[in-house]
Amino acid sequence: ATNNHVRIVEVGARDGLQNEKTLLPADVKIALIDRLSSTGLQTIEATSFVSPKWVPQLADAAEVFRGIRKVPGVSYPVLVPNEQGYLRARDVGATEIAVFTAASEAFNQKNINASIDESIERFLPVMERAKADGVKVRGYVSTVLGCPYQGEVPVSDVVRVARRLHQLGCYEISLGDTIGVGTPAKARAMLKAVAQEVPMDALAVHFHDTYGQALANILACLEEGVRVVDSAVSGTGGCPYAKGATGNVASEDVVYMLHGMGIHTGIDLDLLIATGAWLAAQLHKETASRVTRARTAP
Ligand code: HMG
Ligand code: MG
Repeated sequence: ATNNHVRIVEVGARDGLQNEKTLLPADVKIALIDRLSSTGLQTIEATSFVSPKWVPQLADAAEVFRGIRKVPGVSYPVLVPNEQGYLRARDVGATEIAVFTAASEAFNQKNINASIDESIERFLPVMERAKADGVKVRGYVSTVLGCPYQGEVPVSDVVRVARRLHQLGCYEISLGDTIGVGTPAKARAMLKAVAQEVPMDALAVHFHDTYGQALANILACLEEGVRVVDSAVSGTGGCPYAKGATGNVASEDVVYMLHGMGIHTGIDLDLLIATGAWLAAQLHKETASRVTRARTAP
């Protein structure tokens, strides 16, 4: 990513769907990802190889991953919590994965039944296998601006966990405001602190819009120098193990803002809007994207 280009990591098919009560059939998920693939997105998180007992919506991960059209030049990372998940992902030919942990101990226990250190222990064999297989690994740090169970999360904890993931070999670390409580000055200070230890071009931001702060937070982080932004088409999403967590910031709204600022994304906004409107219809929901609402209003 250059100064005038932002890479969007589209997480709608994973983060967006994992907390949806309506179970979507695999062919609809495949259609969603195929539509996203034609918008110009470079990175589309496809699914999650976690325990199907923990996230039933994504129990069809293998079928979905096998079924999607793999457009050359587009990467399709999948979430992996442990070695078992890695083997399932490799089995279907995944070439990029994402491991995930949190800056808060309390959240990690609820989300993956492990302490921060235990989660890192689980990643070691995953990182080793990934390296041997030539698989790229992204890393997520959750609860970077607050935790639903422990409240405040010290910035020093975010820095420590992000640095550890980077040292382990994650090429990019996504900093997640899981419950969307952050505000711009805090987001900027957190990013600035992490960037002292991990190069800015290896960092991404991941905002949930629970409190309506996501675009403001993204703008603050862009001003600080970040050039990779996670978002979900139609603003779906949320972690089932984060009490009160709601949707990711809508990709349409992020792209609209970026293009309005003269920043390139390579994404066709009209196609993205059409995809978001289509997904909302599949979920029998009104879209959370303000741009899509404005553009599709009668
Ligand atoms: P556990 O119960 O402690 O694990 O769960 P276990 O090792 O004792 O295994 C229990 C059972 O699960 C066993 O089956 C395993 O085989 C099976 P049983 O013997 O009972 O039949 N199992 C698996 N099956 C399929 N694939 C696997 C797998 N692993 C174990 N990979 C575990 C530990 C980590 C597995 C569980 O807690 C889990 O899957 N958690 C995932 C929770 C999750 O997906 N949360 C949402 C993603 S994180 C997020 O949304 C935040 C993010 O968006 C950033 C942000 O917003 O902050 C990334
Ligand atoms: Mg998330």
